[in-house]
Amino acid sequence: MAEKADISLVQDIIRAAGGHAADLAGLTDRHAAADIAEVLIDEITSRCPAPVNDVPVLVELVISAGDERLAHHLEVVKGSPVRTAAKDDGFVAMRVDYELTELVRELFGPYRERSAGTRGTTLFPYVTDSEHLGSHFLAAQQGTETVLAGCTSRKPDLSELASRYLTPKWGSLHWFTPHYDRHFRDYRDEPVRVLEIGVGGYKHPEWGGGSLRMWKHFFHRGEIFGLDIVDKSHFDAQRVKTIQGDQNDPDCLAAIAEEYGPFDIVIDDGSHINEHIRTSFHALFPHVRPGGLYVIEDLWTAYWPGFGGNENPKQDGATSLGLLKDLVDSVQHQELPATAGHRPSYADQHVVGMHLYHNLAFIEKGTNAEGGIPPWIPRDFETLVAVSSGGAA
Ligand SMILES: C[S@@+](CC[C@H](N)C(=O)[O-])C[C@H]1O[C@@H](n2cnc3c(N)ncnc32)[C@H](O)[C@@H]1O
Repeated sequence: MAEKADISLVQDIIRAAGGHAADLAGLTDRHAAADIAEVLIDEITSRCPAPVNDVPVLVELVISAGDERLAHHLEVVKGSPVRTAAKDDGFVAMRVDYELTELVRELFGPYRERSAGTRGTTLFPYVTDSEHLGSHFLAAQQGTETVLAGCTSRKPDLSELASRYLTPKWGSLHWFTPHYDRHFRDYRDEPVRVLEIGVGGYKHPEWGGGSLRMWKHFFHRGEIFGLDIVDKSHFDAQRVKTIQGDQNDPDCLAAIAEEYGPFDIVIDDGSHINEHIRTSFHALFPHVRPGGLYVIEDLWTAYWPGFGGNENPKQDGATSLGLLKDLVDSVQHQELPATAGHRPSYADQHVVGMHLYHNLAFIEKGTNAEGGIPPWIPRDFETLVAVSSGGAA
């Protein structure tokens, strides 16, 4: 397998893909076309849906840059993810042609309803000769369809991606993805930095990583970071970086934020222990950029003593829901009477909105400084009515 590309090359490609034609042209002045093509191929294999063809085929993907023609072969067969192969590894059924800068824009640029790609496809003649006609023709068609589906930033919704990448965020215990779709829509085309606490699979050496793959696909221009107490570095990939650490250790979180932040989105899907959720929020919320979101999943543990929750939510505020209830006062803090002598906390100054769903909360970061209702407005109803009525009886 090709070595993972230098992250600065990936970032440069993403930046150029979002810019003008001149930015794209400059990309091939700064980097070798072959290096850019490697990044594109890595991205395409990660976006391809699960193959459906029973007969294995190779799809030849030719990326042209000026006079250069860079050919890669992708092996497509049911039961395995799409991966690169050598030309001699199988049956080359179809050639797909792209121009490099168009493919860069298609994969990493803001989504366009209509692709301007210069794609052409060529079915190799022997696929349709009498010996192979039937199974090979069908496999060529299905395999090509799979590869073409990976060559686009077309937007499957998160419920579909959750099923494809096997994350339990939809369809079993949780029903979160429609909410995520709604709240993440505006960030989808941006080169966002997303940190998710909890990669998944706990101590199992292979399980987990599904949500990182899902976010990578969804945020097609983003960088995805996954924090877990267990080493999950085998899930590292282009645009995906895992970090080992404890979400209940503020120093560890500060160091992560220093190195990889600020983040546009932080998602807490870690231990779900109430103390940990609170620690992570206080440590990481300051490192969410203004206009960003902090998300907390699986709020049911607020009622589970085994996770530091309390069956009677009115008795103990030291839970995830206790935190959210306090944040309601944060949003409203400018309306507290001056006599209360309240000193605004960081959350007071920066939580500007909240959306609470069953077991899922979105907290919006911004500047909460609109100012309270002015002091000259009467604070009791009778006086307000009298003043507003101009003295009329
Ligand atoms: C529910 S799973 C995450 C699932 C994943 N986000 C998904 O949607 O596919 C929770 C993960 O949190 C990790 N975890 C548990 N305690 C942690 C801690 N104190 N700090 C960081 N991660 C922790 C576990 O190892 C586990 O892999």
